[in-house]
Amino acid sequence: MKIALGSDHAGFKLKTLLAEKLKNDGHDVLDLGAYSLDPVDYPDFGEAVGKAVAGGEADFGVACCGTGIGISIAANKVKGIRAAVVHDVTSAMLAREHNNANIICFGARLLGESVALDALDAFISADFEGGRHERRIAKLTALDAS
Ligand code: RB5
Repeated sequence: MKIALGSDHAGFKLKTLLAEKLKNDGHDVLDLGAYSLDPVDYPDFGEAVGKAVAGGEADFGVACCGTGIGISIAANKVKGIRAAVVHDVTSAMLAREHNNANIICFGARLLGESVALDALDAFISADFEGGRHERRIAKLTALDAS
């Protein structure tokens, strides 16, 4: 799969680790920055990951900031994006199965690296369940036009 990654300075180290993991697992990685620990603004990177996924340049996105919150808010402003902040394997899996999330967001200042690596695995390997969730996702999609 092709996976777009983005972070601010607070998420840079975790993004680097997750990018390495994805490459080792055979995925195609599109790293949209940040590329250092120098302070930057998370909206720029949430937007970049959101546009890469919404535009079809990537199948999924991974976004990291200090809490995962700011960068998820930014990504969710891009039409077609369902970005989910996850805290563990269960929330990562359910973000795919129930919410059909297309971007996974991490709070690098809140989460241990092993938890983030396992959560990313759970997200990538889970599938959207469809069924009763289809109607709810359709309502989310309708909000894009509101
Ligand atoms: C940066 O200091 C921090 O505010 C940012 O990484 C993020 O946590 C915002 O939601």
